[in-house]
Amino acid sequence: MKIIFASQNTGKVREVKSIFENSNFEIISLYDLGNNIEIDETGSTFSENAVIKAKTIYDYYKEPVIADDSGLIVEQLDGRPGVYSARYAGEKCTFEDNNIKVINELKEFPEPHKAKFVCTAVFYDGKNIIETVGELKGKIIKEQRGNNGFGYDPIFVPDGYDKTIAELSLEEKNKISHRAEAFNKLLAKLKRYFKI
Ligand code: IMP
Repeated sequence: MKIIFASQNTGKVREVKSIFENSNFEIISLYDLGNNIEIDETGSTFSENAVIKAKTIYDYYKEPVIADDSGLIVEQLDGRPGVYSARYAGEKCTFEDNNIKVINELKEFPEPHKAKFVCTAVFYDGKNIIETVGELKGKIIKEQRGNNGFGYDPIFVPDGYDKTIAELSLEEKNKISHRAEAFNKLLAKLKRYFKI
């Protein structure tokens, strides 16, 4: 069964496709569909934004949709960047701009810089919303390390690891990540919902 993933982020798409790989669901991203629609993330929580994305894309295609909203929460920064994670350093900023901004803001605080990634995943089929959450705890380090993954991966070291997520393989990230937890829970619920 085909499900549209309401994302153009190639890093996220790779992770989610890998989680659904051996299921009965075929994940098609907006990238695959050549759709570069800009969705206004006007919600004040990950949940609100994930639902906005899913409903916007459902209205477009009238097909079942999955979506997520996620971000980094840094304790010493009072929870920032939070829902503003994607554009923390400004409208057209790069992942690197965001990483440098977080590193700079943390310079005045003692280590460890405790942080967590959070992901809310949702499914919407025009009738029901199914929602799940995942979390990954760790700390922010002073420099960027590694080339894998995306976003804040090069400055985030998960608890129990000495590597950043950007130094882990996709398989290793998908064993522990906030997105993997949220989408594995969603996949389990979808199997029950569709009885497949
Ligand atoms: P979203 O696409 O609106 O959910 O924005 C999520 C933003 O949070 C991304 O652009 C990244 O900056 C950050 N983020 C979310 N998940 C991850 C992750 O797995 N690794 C690194 N950064 C992430």
